[in-house]
Amino acid sequence: MKTIPIHPSHPSVPAPVDTQGSAYGRAAATSEALITGVGPGTPCGEYLRRYWQPVGVSSEVSTRPARVRILGEDLVLFRDKKGRAGLLYERCMHRGTSLFFGKVEEEGVRCCYHGWLFSVEGHCLNQPCEPEGGKSRVNARQPWYPVEERYGIVFAYMGPPDRRPVLPRYDVLEELNEGEFIEVDGTGYGGYAAPVADPHVPFHWLQNWENIVDPYHVQVLHSTFSGVQFAEGFKVMPKVEFEQVENGVIYRAYRRLDDGREMTRINAAMLPNISAIPSLDLEPTRGRMIGWHLAVDDTTMRVFFAAARTEPGRFAGVRMHNGKLWTEATPQERQDFPGDFEAQASQGRVNLHSDEHLATSDRGIGLLRRMMRQQIQKVADGGDPAGVAFNEEDALVRVRSGNFHLAPVEASA
Ligand code: FES
Ligand SMILES: [Fe+2]
Repeated sequence: MKTIPIHPSHPSVPAPVDTQGSAYGRAAATSEALITGVGPGTPCGEYLRRYWQPVGVSSEVSTRPARVRILGEDLVLFRDKKGRAGLLYERCMHRGTSLFFGKVEEEGVRCCYHGWLFSVEGHCLNQPCEPEGGKSRVNARQPWYPVEERYGIVFAYMGPPDRRPVLPRYDVLEELNEGEFIEVDGTGYGGYAAPVADPHVPFHWLQNWENIVDPYHVQVLHSTFSGVQFAEGFKVMPKVEFEQVENGVIYRAYRRLDDGREMTRINAAMLPNISAIPSLDLEPTRGRMIGWHLAVDDTTMRVFFAAARTEPGRFAGVRMHNGKLWTEATPQERQDFPGDFEAQASQGRVNLHSDEHLATSDRGIGLLRRMMRQQIQKVADGGDPAGVAFNEEDALVRVRSGNFHLAPVEASA
């Protein structure tokens, strides 16, 4: 019988089998349903519906009806010929034809099928196929949501009518200096960093919002792993403090920059889905940009930003390390030099929370999720969630974010 030669490095006795950590037989991974469901009647969906949500950029809302999907609901957004914005349930209350195919008139939108005319508040003003234009049309009401416009954005309130809060104001957008204006972005992912032109970004909104209180990834993803995507100064690993405040979570990230300056950067995540990110060039200034990280549905999101500017076009200004926009990058470049979109989209359409191993650096995310769970419970118990105001005086939000030339002990919000 022929013996099979054994290579000298081949162990004559098999190594003990490592039975730990095998991918085989692992439990099916799950998402935390309490904080991820956004549809009507879900605990988180009801909580999110207690705040005003952005639904469109004012300058884009026109007499051509647009389909919008918000919190899992399909709606139609339009502006009547008197200039009033309206947000209606998409399916016509008569027999279900989409109002997307409706025609906008002076007083509202007219359904294409049998011509019922609805005002921006859903009142049925005309039923041309019915005797006398619809004798009982006053009893007909197309489901509608109230909207208000501010900072160039249309906001909707989709919660219980008797709990409707005042639309908030943000101090950094209220106090404009000479020559400043508010620039708006509603392209979906902040206008620069997504390889998709569709404003509907294909992953869960929390993956994007949690990024606001994740200061360490700025050093890794944006500064060393993928080259410098923002400012050189972000290469310094920061010392970070997280703090839960009355309306969310902030971090203070302290760095001593190569040029000797001391810098504390403060980011704010405000309930329920709002961000204040300071300028990415690390110049010392308050953050003048507010973001709304909108849940389109359980697996899709889009972001709206409003920022105080002196020059237009800044939303298109952030590029990959090699000067390309993400829309121009090849698949290989995106793999070799990933940015926020790649990191967040690859967490899945909805992150699998049971797979996570949250560590010290994730304290901000832990605080944010804990606050969400508390507020969801508060709403379920019949209360009002943190950060809503029912009179104008209380509706002004003080925004803490900014880049400050301060050591960490001096950096107070
Ligand atoms: S389905 Fe809209 S008017 Fe008939
Ligand atoms: Fe980032």
